[in-house]
Amino acid sequence: MNWTDASIEQRRDFLKTASSAFGVAACGAFFIACENTTVKNPDTQNNQITTFTITEDVKLQVLTTINASVFKVVPNFNSGFPILFIRTSESVIKAYSSSCTHQGLVINESLENGRIYCSWHGSEFDPASGNVLQGPALTPLVQFSTTFDPLTNILTLK
Ligand code: FES
Repeated sequence: MNWTDASIEQRRDFLKTASSAFGVAACGAFFIACENTTVKNPDTQNNQITTFTITEDVKLQVLTTINASVFKVVPNFNSGFPILFIRTSESVIKAYSSSCTHQGLVINESLENGRIYCSWHGSEFDPASGNVLQGPALTPLVQFSTTFDPLTNILTLK
């Protein structure tokens, strides 16, 4: 190998190393970007607060029963798409975007076998956390902050 061949060999090694490092960095950035897909819907960035008395709301009345769930459109939340409300305990009502994190299609069925089920491609989510239990979805459902007082039946959505 003469000096020129050695130089070419060094360049090849450098390019191999550099391209591997770039690949690792690109994959890392991709996964970080995926993590960020669960940020709150922009509609809620202005600290919108909406309250309901669930016993007086036609749709939310069903939530007087533990483990009940219902879809409801709430103005200024979730870009006009329905929110999935689930009463997971005496004092907790969860609120999730109905937009599936797999392909953004609207989940139109709620609980099946104690799981939030997206019938489009079969993803399943945990009602207590929104975390993925079964793919193809990879990221949790977007969750809205709630408080619920079982004494007054007042549900606050933030
Ligand atoms: S859009 Fe829900 S599983 Fe594909």
